[in-house]
Amino acid sequence: MMDNKVRVLKAFATVIFLTGAAILTSCENYIWSPPEIPEEIVISFSEHIYPVCDDCHTSWNLERTYEELTDKLDMDDPESSAIFTIHGSILDNKMVQVDEDLTIKASDAIILWAEDGAQFNK
Ligand code: HEC
Repeated sequence: MMDNKVRVLKAFATVIFLTGAAILTSCENYIWSPPEIPEEIVISFSEHIYPVCDDCHTSWNLERTYEELTDKLDMDDPESSAIFTIHGSILDNKMVQVDEDLTIKASDAIILWAEDGAQFNK
């Protein structure tokens, strides 16, 4: 009689434990991690970067925005560019879709673009 109760309790505890473990491990899949950025991705100034700036700097055309941005870029060390001192949190929070299934931070897009020579590209 007693044995049965213990067995049932043990089984019950095991089920609860396993459910908990299953929930915990399944949650891990939902922790967001930044997407891998493939080497070959090409960032376009006019398509990917300009629209981000144009959201606020509506009076700047393509050329003006290019000048303002490149003026604030450190081509030797894009990550320490002045543009991120001016706009670090804005550009970290704006997301840019750079191809069919890749969306990255505007700041990362700017860094990649600067590493590729910061061209006035389409
Ligand atoms: C969320 C709005 C917003 C976005 C997006 C934004 N800016 Fe700005 N930016 C501002 C505001 C506000 C100022 C400060 C007011 C001003 O100087 O006009 C500013 C200032 C600047 C300045 C400083 C001007 C100076 O020398 O004092 C530069 C350069 C600049 N932005 C470039 C950019 C570029 C390049 C982008 C796109 C990569 C961009 N901004 C995106 C709102 C924005």
